[in-house]
Amino acid sequence: MKSIPIITIDGLSGSGKGTISKMLCIELGWNILDSGALYRTLAYLMEKRAIDLEDFENNSKEIKEDFKVTFGIGILGEPVNIFLKGQDITDLVRTEEIAEKTSVLSSSKEIRDFVRPCQREFKKSPGLIADGRDMGTVIFPEADLKIYLTASLEERAKRRQSQLKSVGSEVNMPILLEELEARDRKDKEREHSPLKPAEDSVLMDTTRVTPEEVFKEIMSLLVNF
Ligand code: DC
Repeated sequence: MKSIPIITIDGLSGSGKGTISKMLCIELGWNILDSGALYRTLAYLMEKRAIDLEDFENNSKEIKEDFKVTFGIGILGEPVNIFLKGQDITDLVRTEEIAEKTSVLSSSKEIRDFVRPCQREFKKSPGLIADGRDMGTVIFPEADLKIYLTASLEERAKRRQSQLKSVGSEVNMPILLEELEARDRKDKEREHSPLKPAEDSVLMDTTRVTPEEVFKEIMSLLVNF
């Protein structure tokens, strides 16, 4: 029996992972895993229940019961929709405040161990597009195609700014640049599952290319699927 195909799209915030993953999902009709959204949802749930990271272990059973996340493809050009037990929480978790909390939370081994099996559950027929930081290196080492996206810090900050503006948040560019850089560093330097390209990944710089061009290039790599 042929195994379920997987494409992993890893890279820093604003490198284009979300946009490209969505385009691939629509084209191929596959499932999507926005792993950053899973971490964001966990941060949101813990905040809502006033559970600190130190108390995670003691509350993990109840959190697991509540942690039922699904995704909706929604509109092209916007991040995927996030549902928690069927309730749309997209706007509640795609905020800078939750991003800050998530950045701290996601560097914990305990948290990563908790989220890992949840991520693997998204591997379902007819295929999976997995978007994140460690999709190709840790979660789906068996993936058929691994893409690693990069873009300059300035370009990524601009993209983040317009994304935040579209949900009504005003942003200060110098602060955004600073926060993005700090989070980049955290993602790359953390002890557990640091962000790095898988050895067998294809590197693409999206700074000066359109999403359509990146999408086309990835599609051209799928000839053997
Ligand atoms: O891609 P994003 O901004 O939604 O990710 C939110 C946070 O989660 C960010 O701090 C990086 C972290 N993350 C992670 O550690 N591992 C992943 N596979 C995906 C995201």
